Amino acid sequence: MKAGFLGVGHYAPEKVLTNKDLEKMVDTSDEWIRTRTGIEERRIAADDMDTSDLAFRAAQEALKDADLEAEDLDMILVATVTPDTPFPSVSAMLQHRLGANKVAAMDLSAACAGFMYGVITAKQFIETNAYKNVLVVGVEKLSKITDWSDRNTCVLFGDGAGAAVIGPVSEDKGILSFELGSDGTGGPHLYQTREDLLFMNGREVFKFAVRQMPESSVNVVKKIGLSEQDVDYLVPHQANIRIMEAARERLGIPEEKMSTQIKRYGNTSSASIPIALSEDVKAGKIKDNDLVVLVGFGGGLTWGAVALRWGK
Ligand SMILES: CC(C)(COP(=O)(O)OP(=O)(O)OC[C@H]1O[C@@H](n2cnc3c(N)ncnc32)[C@H](O)[C@@H]1OP(=O)(O)O)[C@@H](O)C(=O)NCCC(=O)NCCS
Repeated sequence: MKAGFLGVGHYAPEKVLTNKDLEKMVDTSDEWIRTRTGIEERRIAADDMDTSDLAFRAAQEALKDADLEAEDLDMILVATVTPDTPFPSVSAMLQHRLGANKVAAMDLSAACAGFMYGVITAKQFIETNAYKNVLVVGVEKLSKITDWSDRNTCVLFGDGAGAAVIGPVSEDKGILSFELGSDGTGGPHLYQTREDLLFMNGREVFKFAVRQMPESSVNVVKKIGLSEQDVDYLVPHQANIRIMEAARERLGIPEEKMSTQIKRYGNTSSASIPIALSEDVKAGKIKDNDLVVLVGFGGGLTWGAVALRWGK
């Protein structure tokens, strides 16, 4: 039994916040943001739209894409660091709103690596025959913990949701290898303050990320006995184009083989990989049988990657 992607979906709030808009809010410039990060604009959720609302819309799209109903789900996993409330979980809220059966539901907290933790957890349940269809959502409303007076961080983040239904696929498809890790010594570099605001030491996180993301990308490919150039498509966590480029260059693959949704969405933490994946699958950039690498890193510090053969 192999676990793979049966369907993907995403939802981005309507409101677009451009770099020009940010110039009016803090001492920054469109030019600085573009050249240092690759970000051009990001989405911001309306006040009356919380994390579970974003998650619900992405989940509906993923179910539709998988040609499944909510009652076909056996488990719901939601990766987020910005839940509506610490409890009940966003996943339990989703169970109710989707009209799923009374299945297992839990939230995962691994910051920007959260979706990777979710996918790899789903894989374990599927490949041990415990569950069949697992909904994994990566979702954030980061705008509610963003310090809008701090130019070091407020230009980087955005809101959004991405979802996938993970389930059984044929033997030659699906998730072939994975890597997960954490290093709590780096915790002080990226955390939520007592005032509930996001704090980041950008330089330290950058140093960690340019080392870890390329390394994990290579490791998952090596684990299946293939070479870096065999990778058909790379979906890295969309935090900074320079960090993403480091992973792409280490794999030695051309620009068109890497997802660059960062331009439009900024860093949406747990949502970034599934949004990028959903966008690129729908645009036909990822095709049946492609060897795809998904790789993320984030606060914790945490990281995770998978190598997979796309298709059912
Ligand atoms: C945050 C980040 C873009 C900063 O880019 P950088 O090239 O490292 O820039 P530096 O930190 O060296 O800062 C350079 C200068 O720009 C300034 N600056 C920071 N944000 C700015 C902004 N939005 N506009 C203009 N200037 C800014 C800094 O204050 C600093 O000024 P100083 O030298 O006078 O102190 C980069 O460090 C980064 O992407 N880090 C990783 C972040 C990340 O991935 N986080 C998510 C983890 S999931």
